[in-house]
Amino acid sequence: MNAEFKINGKIIETERLVLRPFTTSDADDLYEYASVEGVGEMAGWRHHVSIDETRSILDTFIEEDKTFAICLKDGGKVIGTLGVEKYGLEDKLTEFSSYKGREMGYVLSKDYWGRGLMPEAVCAVIDYLFDECDLDFITCGYYDFNLQSKRVQEKCGFKPYRKVKMTTKLGTTEPSVLNLLLNPKKRIELVFSHPETLIYTED
Ligand SMILES: CC(C)(COP(=O)(O)OP(=O)(O)OC[C@H]1O[C@@H](n2cnc3c(N)ncnc32)[C@H](O)[C@@H]1OP(=O)(O)O)[C@@H](O)C(=O)NCCC(=O)NCCS
Repeated sequence: MNAEFKINGKIIETERLVLRPFTTSDADDLYEYASVEGVGEMAGWRHHVSIDETRSILDTFIEEDKTFAICLKDGGKVIGTLGVEKYGLEDKLTEFSSYKGREMGYVLSKDYWGRGLMPEAVCAVIDYLFDECDLDFITCGYYDFNLQSKRVQEKCGFKPYRKVKMTTKLGTTEPSVLNLLLNPKKRIELVFSHPETLIYTED
């Protein structure tokens, strides 16, 4: 089942980053990277075309309180987002019926790609979700073409779980991989549904 989750003022620090809730004053930083063509598109949404569009999305981030702003420790600039989203197909994935989980999604400013910053952020949020929020599992997916995101998930310990087709906000359907990470501190025994899409192997 989907776990309840709110950021609720939580701040997570890593070596180079601070993850915190968004505020209305983040609009310019958010627009700066979200308006670059080819960034959001890799995550299934169109780049922002106006600051008003950014402000409206920012309002949603603030209201829903499940998307961290990823900020540089040095200077405080917002350079990315990390959402702790609800995972989909909750009714169909019966293996999770008695376990609590969420799905992660993320985007980083193109200016900062290739420095290991997103794995640093994702791994810190995984620790928080498992150790402090007591989640049992986390899912995370990528479109088959997005090898950069695949690498982030590999670096953070996710394992291939299912081959799926994900619909995007651009109106397309993309062959994708959904990955899974189980809380290593818990004894979790899954009886998997839908073997036709399953690629998970226990080892
Ligand atoms: C996916 C993303 C978050 C990766 O963040 P990151 O901090 O750059 O991650 P890493 O530094 O670990 O790099 C991951 C891989 O990206 C590739 N990469 C690195 N620099 C790159 C660059 N400048 N351009 C393209 N790819 C690059 C490398 O293959 C790297 O893997 P490696 O470390 O094994 O060489 C970032 O590329 C991004 O925001 N992409 C657009 C949005 C997106 O895809 N979101 C995920 C949707 S599922």
